[in-house]
Amino acid sequence: MSASMNPVSPSVTPPPDKRVILEASGLSKRFGGLLANDDVSLSLGTETGKVTSVIGPNGAGKSTFFKMLAGFCTPTTGKVRLFGEDITGLNPHKISARGLVRTFQETTIFPELTALEHVALARQLSRSANDFQVFANTLSARRDEDRMRADALEILRFLDLDGVASSVAKTLPHGYLRLLGIAMGMAASPKVLLLDEPYAGLNPDETDRAVELTRKIAASGVSILLVEHDMKAVMKISDHIHVLYFGKKIAEGTPEEIRNNEQVIEAYLGKEDEDIGL
Ligand SMILES: Nc1ncnc2c1ncn2[C@@H]1O[C@H](COP(=O)(O)OP(=O)(O)OP(=O)(O)O)[C@@H](O)[C@H]1O
Ligand SMILES: [Mg+2]
Repeated sequence: MSASMNPVSPSVTPPPDKRVILEASGLSKRFGGLLANDDVSLSLGTETGKVTSVIGPNGAGKSTFFKMLAGFCTPTTGKVRLFGEDITGLNPHKISARGLVRTFQETTIFPELTALEHVALARQLSRSANDFQVFANTLSARRDEDRMRADALEILRFLDLDGVASSVAKTLPHGYLRLLGIAMGMAASPKVLLLDEPYAGLNPDETDRAVELTRKIAASGVSILLVEHDMKAVMKISDHIHVLYFGKKIAEGTPEEIRNNEQVIEAYLGKEDEDIGL
């Protein structure tokens, strides 16, 4: 029997599972002679509202990995699927519109705008993909603007930040600015939220508060992917952890499994529990 007569070719791959929230397969990124990510795969599975962390030493490739997921940098090889759809190489705005959102950094904060205006602006930008309504002074744009502000206030309330809604950014302490960045990410109605070192520079109380908020966001059904050096926070908040080392994934597992993984201890966590405050 010739191959063309065989109705089921062994090379046919099954269609991607649309229930799988996010799946990176074999992602690599080369910067000249440096392989910043080397064949990294990760799946968030099908259960929403989980916190998954990516840890590893400085320069391990964590931020590069996030940038590839969110479209800020094109993978050299590999694929990213969001709910089964191939999003590899799409621009960040298109990826964000599909529900995979990277939080705003402090560099995207305007000193003279209020917290509410920041969140409303982030929402407007996320909603107005390819039209110019944001800039057009039409009645419908104004009506939109009112709705955006109402939505923004609701987001600030949800994150317990409504108390600073009308404070201008330049008067807000660092801890609040970090939370404002998260609120701006939430404005895009993410299904998956990427947080790159959200607790950096926070004092222990602020970190506790930010960890609590991260949990609250996850509990609302948003899947969180977190890069963070604060191991105490990571171990407390994560459902699952992936470890990068020199661009390669060397382990994944529950916090308990990662804490006791010899290779991870050797490469990153250190032998003494005190090293990471556990
Ligand atoms: N645009 C770039 N051009 C060249 N090299 C880059 C670029 N971006 C990152 N790198 C290099 O890729 C490697 C991984 O960097 P990356 O920022 O992803 O690490 P990281 O794990 O996020 O580190 P950190 O914990 O310090 O934030 C580093 O050696 C870095 O210098
Ligand atoms: Mg980084």
